[in-house]
Amino acid sequence: MTLAKRTFDAVIIGGGGAGLRAALQLAEANLKVAVVSKVFPTRSHTVSAQGGIAASLGNVSEDNWHWHMYDTIKGSDYLGDQDAIEFMCRQANEAVIELEHYGMPFDRLENGKIYQRPFGGMTQNYGGSPAVRTCAAADRTGHAMLHTLYQRNIAARTHFFEEYFAVDLVMDEEGYALGVVALGIESGEPIFIEARTTILATGGAGRIFFATTNALINTGDGLGMVLRAGLPLEDMEFWQFHPTGVYGAGVLITEGVRGEGGYLVNKNGERFMERYAPNAKDLASRDVVSRAMSVEIFEGRGCGEHGDHILLKLDHLGPEIIQHRLPGIRELAMKFAHVDPATAPIPVVPTAHYMMGGIPANLHGQVVAPTRTGQEAIPGLYAIGECACVSVHGANRLGSNSLLDLIVFGRAAGNHVIEYCRENPYPRTTPAASLDRVMAHLARWDRTGDGISVPELREEIRNTMQLHCGVFRTEEVLQDGVKKMQDIAAKLPDVVLRDHSKVFNTGRIEALELENLLAVALATMVSAAARQESRGAHARDDYPDRDDQKWLKHTLYLAEGHRLDYKPVRLKPLTVESFQPKARVY
Ligand code: FUM
Repeated sequence: MTLAKRTFDAVIIGGGGAGLRAALQLAEANLKVAVVSKVFPTRSHTVSAQGGIAASLGNVSEDNWHWHMYDTIKGSDYLGDQDAIEFMCRQANEAVIELEHYGMPFDRLENGKIYQRPFGGMTQNYGGSPAVRTCAAADRTGHAMLHTLYQRNIAARTHFFEEYFAVDLVMDEEGYALGVVALGIESGEPIFIEARTTILATGGAGRIFFATTNALINTGDGLGMVLRAGLPLEDMEFWQFHPTGVYGAGVLITEGVRGEGGYLVNKNGERFMERYAPNAKDLASRDVVSRAMSVEIFEGRGCGEHGDHILLKLDHLGPEIIQHRLPGIRELAMKFAHVDPATAPIPVVPTAHYMMGGIPANLHGQVVAPTRTGQEAIPGLYAIGECACVSVHGANRLGSNSLLDLIVFGRAAGNHVIEYCRENPYPRTTPAASLDRVMAHLARWDRTGDGISVPELREEIRNTMQLHCGVFRTEEVLQDGVKKMQDIAAKLPDVVLRDHSKVFNTGRIEALELENLLAVALATMVSAAARQESRGAHARDDYPDRDDQKWLKHTLYLAEGHRLDYKPVRLKPLTVESFQPKARVY
């Protein structure tokens, strides 16, 4: 197979919010930048983000970045790194205003300022009344953001490799990132995209679960690439279950519904969150709400014929609010739950939504890995957005902090890449062996004939994750899950493509995605089995308490031997006093 080559200053893998924000920073600085995206960029999963982006603009209620910082640290169950959280919250206002100036069509208040709504865990005055902090474009904020950034990138002449699948990182023996080999999905032709800097912005991996709000494309491709390059993943045990996925379909119903005044009821019509979170009620943080819903269902107060879901009530908001602030939700509820929320409640269940862990990265987006002398940046390699773990979300992310994370760290990584390219003006030589390794990987997926099919193994992974790594976890269930996942991994060499799928290349892409899903699922299961405490989204029935003595630390997982290591949480912020861990109540 011949290997075409193109050379850029920077290659960004992923065309979602983080990738496009970084690309814009680079293209506007006149760097030659390429974005590789397996879908047309405006179909990236950021387009599904609904409720909004957090920033302490104070357009509706008094607010400041320090309150936002406190809420984010508390929301993270004190696992978030406080320097990174300060960095993000301090930059939020500027980042949102910048988006507004790019032309992002935010909703407006009567006075013309950006519309803001309340979201879970966001408060005034360090845990007081709800803060109205989430800036929104109806319930299509991600859509508005992604299209704005895409248009700006077109104007700035960013080069797009649309519908190209990134197979593997290309690195040399000294550990420098040299670019990526990608496969044209239509042509089936591989290409080496050489670059002095490589930015991973591949998004989440929610498709490891059977029930998820994530799109089909969220298969953890960047994470798989990093593990294959011998680098670690951080805090993979922490997965957020969004309280309101449509029952049976998984589609997201934004927390903005509860921000606008909607609430959850059990089969008795009881507004049960009042018992679990007397102050914040339905706007407690997501881990708290999802656990409460699961308890209601387990204890027999679930709704419907099988008592297996909860109802989200918003008919009392009136047609005006639903039409203007939540139009997309109405459409989704009618399509996927067959109810009109203006007149009937939506059946919902906690659904896998967001990966708090990911590729370890610092404030500049540089990928960091342990060496004998400490944590060191991998030269030329960056990770941003959901695929990265900075860690600003710790053990549980607050809703609307993810769009903020994309924008703040997309820009920060862009700025660092500009510096890096200035200091490293020439491309390094790519050893033939580095390319041969990737091509050998690709060649594995030429096999057809008798064997296990890709969808068969993929469903085994997803069912195992759902059963063994859900909202509540125990030692026995997790250890069983590790064993099952290792058995699934042992079957990978027996996976074959069906003949017809080769013709369209999509079979090959699905097989490559399967490897990534499996790598992420293993990392998650092994990390979760090891953490013997309950913190944020990781809830252990057998270890119900948070244990700061033993477990106030980040997990690092390496694929080779499924090895785990740990590193301390950075409790020291950049300029202010640290917030010491304390009991977390809402
Ligand atoms: O509920 C939502 O609109 C989701 C937002 C988020 O995950 O940040």
